[in-house]
Amino acid sequence: MISELHERQKLERIDMKVVPPGPEAKKIVDLDTKYLVKSTKSLPVVARRAEGVFVEDVDDNVYLDFAAGISVVNMGHVHPEITARVEEQLHKLWHFAGTDYYYREQVDAAKALTEVTPGKFAKKVFFTNSGTESNEAAIKIAKAYTKRQQFVAFIGGFHGRTQGSLSFTASRAIHHKGLFPSMPGVEHVPFPNPYRNPFGIDGYEHPDELISRTLDFIERYLFSTYAPPENIAAFLAEPVQGEGGYIVPPMNFYRQLKKMLDSHGILLIMDEVQTGFGRTGKFFASEHFGIEPEVISLAKSIASGIPMGAIVVRDTLDFPESGLHSNTFGGNVLASVACVATIDAIKKEKAVENSEKMGKVLRKRLLELQEKYKQIGDVRGLGLMQAVDFVKDRKTREPDTKLRDRIEYTAFQNGLLTLSTGLSAIRLIPPLIVNESQINMGVEALEKGIKAAL
Ligand SMILES: Cc1ncc(COP(=O)(O)O)c(C=O)c1O
Repeated sequence: MISELHERQKLERIDMKVVPPGPEAKKIVDLDTKYLVKSTKSLPVVARRAEGVFVEDVDDNVYLDFAAGISVVNMGHVHPEITARVEEQLHKLWHFAGTDYYYREQVDAAKALTEVTPGKFAKKVFFTNSGTESNEAAIKIAKAYTKRQQFVAFIGGFHGRTQGSLSFTASRAIHHKGLFPSMPGVEHVPFPNPYRNPFGIDGYEHPDELISRTLDFIERYLFSTYAPPENIAAFLAEPVQGEGGYIVPPMNFYRQLKKMLDSHGILLIMDEVQTGFGRTGKFFASEHFGIEPEVISLAKSIASGIPMGAIVVRDTLDFPESGLHSNTFGGNVLASVACVATIDAIKKEKAVENSEKMGKVLRKRLLELQEKYKQIGDVRGLGLMQAVDFVKDRKTREPDTKLRDRIEYTAFQNGLLTLSTGLSAIRLIPPLIVNESQINMGVEALEKGIKAAL
């Protein structure tokens, strides 16, 4: 009876009943350890239900969710309208192999994606089930179109963990440990990270210098020495590096990079898996940088938590013949319905605008924290894709990974769910429907976490 009452109670604020992980959570964590292979679990939070920006665990604790399922539930947990539309579809048709047969819902989702992605040109869509799979499709379509075999990616980039996309991923060495070789032919170059880069340039102070050094490196040390541009099919890049630490490059960077790539006939594949669907205060982060990529890779928030991914490409990039690529679940009926419902909800609730507005509020509050705590070296991000970087010394910018890990945990004990990123940052990525008082609640919990960890 008591738990039934809880089921019906609205989740509205942080409410910690026991120090997590509580007794029920511990049981599930133990079973998980017994039955699941090791993955990337970071906090022992065991969810029972969720609503909007709050999550209730199995010991009745209520957390504020500033992780959003790694930027998946951008419209909040169990969004009523999206839920209702998926529920309605559940009684009609679940799955029909969208790569082999036809149904309206998949076409609707593809059309909706071509309309919201940057670029007025005609586009086509291939549906996948995850971010890594979207990048695999992007790699294949780039090879088929350009008839070239090599690729370039950025150090610090993250593009997934299957063998093709893993060869592009370069954000943590553990991702590669004992797994060599993955796909050959991928070269890596430094990313114009304004805060820490191998050129020793302060990119906040001197963004143009950072851009020209990065482009010069590509031309002089890559294209002229061992990877002729005529061999390169595409560059795969995130507009804002996600797993690499929420790194925003100088705003003119991608325009200049694209110009250079265009001159060599090299495609730019923009991996918007994490930055997509309003996360950065624009529908897609490419818009901040004034570019219209011919290939965009999507996943995560595309269907609010029903597994789905997609690539959206300029229509001339379509595979030359059928059979070159396909899958079973891509464009699954339920996922397609959730995708269209998600896009409709984002537009109806002006979630992109809210992301921009609340992103500013969050950033202001985080900068206030930076004034108070010398351990915060950098606050960076766009829209509601913000991160706080913890350092041992503000001058040297030496990362303090241990402190960051402690704060992620103590913030969790204070009811705030976050995720670490890069060497020493914590990301703050609430659902885009977050309001100002919830932002304040989150920053207060983060500060309690900082105080407890110092
Ligand atoms: C930018 C980016 N690309 C690709 C991926 C891989 O997506 P998935 O985990 O769905 O395979 C991620 C996941 O975090 C990501 O952030």
